Amino acid sequence: MKKLEEYVRSIPDFPEKGIIFRDVTSVLQDADGLHLAINEMDKCLEGIDYDVVVGPESRGFIFGVPIAYNNHKAFVPVRKKGKLPCETISCDYDLEYGKATIEMHKDSIKPGQKVVIIDDLIATGGTTEAIIKLVEELGGVVVKVVFLMELKGLKGREKLNGYDIDAVIQYE
Ligand code: PRP
Ligand code: ADE
Repeated sequence: MKKLEEYVRSIPDFPEKGIIFRDVTSVLQDADGLHLAINEMDKCLEGIDYDVVVGPESRGFIFGVPIAYNNHKAFVPVRKKGKLPCETISCDYDLEYGKATIEMHKDSIKPGQKVVIIDDLIATGGTTEAIIKLVEELGGVVVKVVFLMELKGLKGREKLNGYDIDAVIQYE
């Protein structure tokens, strides 16, 4: 059986020159790759007590929902600006390439709920930092953050000091 990292395709100079894009579609389009990815991320949650999985649009949805479903937990989507229909809170942030604004529904997390954040990848850590800010604004407690991949060179972890972070695959 292939190792999980062997399913990830790396594309130089996408979406702009100098970026090596770690493509998760090559993991997803293989039944073994998908199975391995979800199972390895799930293992990072063993022994963690939590109520809700929070995942950002769009790749965070792909991994967040099966993990929430497997563990009989709720899933709360974090969406890009203008997509959520009810009252929201929002946060602007920087990415490896570009800027964005994310939003959450005000009633999506109840004060005191224990939250696990799931995403495919951490680069600069800007997305996760913004999600943590929103979750905490709603009174949630972030107990764990799990990524499939970490781009260590971008030092995203430094933005998330004090939080319990795991990444299944690490790139220097
Ligand atoms: C990507 C990725 C992470 C984020 C990581 O999402 O899925 O959410 O960037 O970068 P950061 O650590 O520098 O914040 P993107 O915003 O490109 O959206 P997508 O999932 O819709 O492609
Ligand atoms: N999101 C931000 N940086 C990325 C990268 N290098 N590869 C894949 N997704 C990303």
